[in-house]
Amino acid sequence: MSKVYVGMSADLIHPGHINILKEAAELGDVMVGILTDEAIASYKRLPFLSYEQRKSVVENIKGVVEVVPQTTLDYRPNLRKYRPSIVVHGDDWKTGIQSETRQQVIDTLSEWQGKLVEIEYTKGISSSQLNRQIKEIGTTPDIRLKRLRRLITAKKLVRVLEAHSPLTGLIIENTSVEKNGVAHEFDAMWSSSLTDSTLKGKPDIEALDVSARVQNINDIFEVTTKPLIYDADTGGIPEHFAFTVRSLERVGVSAAIIEDKTGLKKNSLLGNDVEQQQSSIEDFCEKIQVGKNAQITSDFMIIARIESLILEAGIEDAVHRANAYIEAGADGIMIHSRQKTPTEIFEFCEQYKKLGRTVPLVAVPSSYNQTYEKEMIDAGINIVIYANHMLRSAYPAMRDVAQSILENGRSYETSDKCISIKEILNLIPGTN
Ligand code: SPV
Ligand code: MG
Repeated sequence: MSKVYVGMSADLIHPGHINILKEAAELGDVMVGILTDEAIASYKRLPFLSYEQRKSVVENIKGVVEVVPQTTLDYRPNLRKYRPSIVVHGDDWKTGIQSETRQQVIDTLSEWQGKLVEIEYTKGISSSQLNRQIKEIGTTPDIRLKRLRRLITAKKLVRVLEAHSPLTGLIIENTSVEKNGVAHEFDAMWSSSLTDSTLKGKPDIEALDVSARVQNINDIFEVTTKPLIYDADTGGIPEHFAFTVRSLERVGVSAAIIEDKTGLKKNSLLGNDVEQQQSSIEDFCEKIQVGKNAQITSDFMIIARIESLILEAGIEDAVHRANAYIEAGADGIMIHSRQKTPTEIFEFCEQYKKLGRTVPLVAVPSSYNQTYEKEMIDAGINIVIYANHMLRSAYPAMRDVAQSILENGRSYETSDKCISIKEILNLIPGTN
């Protein structure tokens, strides 16, 4: 029998997939190369189902003889490894971004006289359409919670943006920019203590209680599916932090970041211009342990945030603390800086590498905002958080409009700064 290779993501199996597999089975023994999370995340959104789940579905489809992982979008490594005599694919890849992959498949198969068989694309159904429908259905706390760890494994850099309301959550959910055929999106949301407090007209000093913040997250979760990282400030006293962890897990938050400060905490970007104190390593390690012991799932993450650079205690102190916090059980390290350049952050990253630890590194480039994501990837950073930009952009826009109405005695002059009535009525489905 001929060996027939079919590459697919197989996230939401629909009649189009079944048709391809049926036709492939008529040509020989079907080997399905399932794209791994990593291969899929290199050009579009992470699939809903994990690789293992997708594998277990496909290997039970009639006619499929074998399932193997395809770890890149590029078919060539698997084709050379398995040398199939036939590759079967839908004919929808003849044009557009996939046409290059198609040509590579044809050229590679010709090395051993293999051939490409293309099946007519099944009309009226597509994965993107199903994706949209799934998004409308929503997600569960469990699926959402687990998603952050999957993203960290699958992506070079997990891109996170601050959400302080359901509307900002929807912007994060739906904004997508295509560059060279690759969809660039935000992977997750950041619940910021700064913007949550500011929105309620309060200073960023842990004055907002956890229930108010969790309620806000619940509202955001009503209308979104992406995972969320929670800014837990200092975490409070360890006994209280244990309860916070449980509340966050229950709603489906993926991670809490606690900062190693003690006493009345102030915003980090104020640094030493205000009175703020770093916690002792022992006390902070204890808090990490209490948090880790409190969590129910193994997927929830507690990330330790080091304030040594903010409080000018030096890189050596920061690295020493990173090691101690990981030893205490931290699932990640956030390193913060308020310098205008990333020099000290990158120096920390260099030292951090030497520790030989594998837990992910988080950076928040609020002050060193000229730094590109590519530079952060090269430095070994795994998660980037754009920590306050939704609120910082909304505020001046609103203030200018308020001023304009006062200056002109009417609202006409604000028209080009405002979304039209028609657009706002259509913004959220179900208004009319
Ligand atoms: C926040 O967004 O609340 C943060 C980051 O903790 S920072 O404001 O830079 O301290
Ligand atoms: Mg904060």
